Amino acid sequence: MGDILRTETAQDTQNPEDLYRLYRSLSEQLRDQLVQIENDKRELEEQLNKRVLDLEARNMELREQLRQTDADRRYIETKKMQYEREVRKLKSESEQLRSPPLIIGTITDVIDANRVIVRSSAGPRFLVRSSQNITPEDLKPGVRCTLNQQSLAIVELLPTSFDAQIYGMEVVDSPQETYADIGGLEAQINEIKEAVELPLKRPDLFLRIGIDPPKGVLLHGPPGTGKTLLAKAVAHETNAHFMRVVGSELVQKYIGEGARLVRELFELGKKRAPTIIFIDEIDAVGASRTEANTSGDREVQRTLMQLLAGMDGFENRGDVKIIGATNRIDILDRALLRPGRFDRIIEIPLPDIKGRLSILKVHTRALSMDESVNLEEIAAFTDQKNGADLRAICMEAGMFAIRKERASITHQDFLWAIEKVANDFNRHRVADVEGAMFA
Ligand SMILES: Nc1ncnc2c1ncn2[C@@H]1O[C@H](COP(=O)(O)OP(=O)(O)O)[C@@H](O)[C@H]1O
Ligand SMILES: [Mg+2]
Repeated sequence: MGDILRTETAQDTQNPEDLYRLYRSLSEQLRDQLVQIENDKRELEEQLNKRVLDLEARNMELREQLRQTDADRRYIETKKMQYEREVRKLKSESEQLRSPPLIIGTITDVIDANRVIVRSSAGPRFLVRSSQNITPEDLKPGVRCTLNQQSLAIVELLPTSFDAQIYGMEVVDSPQETYADIGGLEAQINEIKEAVELPLKRPDLFLRIGIDPPKGVLLHGPPGTGKTLLAKAVAHETNAHFMRVVGSELVQKYIGEGARLVRELFELGKKRAPTIIFIDEIDAVGASRTEANTSGDREVQRTLMQLLAGMDGFENRGDVKIIGATNRIDILDRALLRPGRFDRIIEIPLPDIKGRLSILKVHTRALSMDESVNLEEIAAFTDQKNGADLRAICMEAGMFAIRKERASITHQDFLWAIEKVANDFNRHRVADVEGAMFA
């Protein structure tokens, strides 16, 4: 631009008009150039602004990416830690599985916190040391423990265990029978309530008067009169734990097994207290001790002795009550019957006419009968029949009605049923002259 100015002035320096024109054109050129520069500058600024914005956006994007990778990294790190822990666990487990078996023993004597006499399952006794993980207070004679194979040191103590059979005797769902399902037997129900229910529910009454409540009751009487039923009803009405065992289950094959079962039964009963232990058909183990001839008889007697010892072992005010039931009180050992064992001996006789009527009422509660049925008369016709017979009669009467395709049972159905059951019953008598020891 300087060059142009210089050349133009060199050509026409003389003429003022020319000079003026020149000046005008130059100033116009300059203005244009200035405008141009301004435009350029604005454009440049705009470009720069845009670039800055772009960069800022890119920066944000990168930051976001960084955050994301950071989170990913942390996630992977925790995952890794998790896997490491699992590996360690599996390793220790596989080590445990590979470790040698431990010997089972029983503590027989504790000398001091560190030295204990144990009997190993093989028989011999050893003086051993116990692991430091075991609290010395837990070391008691009779506790089962595991022993190291080489040093025989006590590794850990085992919980006391009961025979699986004993657990089978626990009745978890209480029976459905209630006192309302029992016909007659009001006096007996009252007596058993007093002897079993009351001490469990209101021990304070006995404490105040100062007497020991009965430890147990023995129900006896002919078969089918409701002994088992009564025991079930007691279990239903009290909230006590109920353990049911049939005497014959306590008769075992090997020496000492039956006695052990009885001991464990009582132990579990104590542990679960309040408990009602119901020994049905107790004559299977409670028959009187005679000059025993066979080893089997002797084994049954050992079981009985354990039973007696177990009953003596209970506190009278304790929460364990025993109910026995038998059809053959005449063969029971006298020792079982003396006070202090079964304190109350409750006879459940064959029902009289009134009893039979109430039993019939119980068993016809759910039946549809027409008006002709006269239960009094049926009760009168069923002399010498027990509760089980009466139930069978009700069922047979229903069967007659079904056979005749009637909607309800008539009096005649009952009469036929009585005859039918009587005939069946006589047949039993012939087949089983010995009487009914196991009803
Ligand atoms: N007093 C009774 N009231 C109602 N039903 C009875 C009565 N006695 C016996 N039964 C019926 O006879 C069945 C057998 O009775 P159960 O209690 O097992 O006799 P057992 O005295 O031989 O143990 C019971 O399930 C019940 O249906
Ligand atoms: Mg019975």
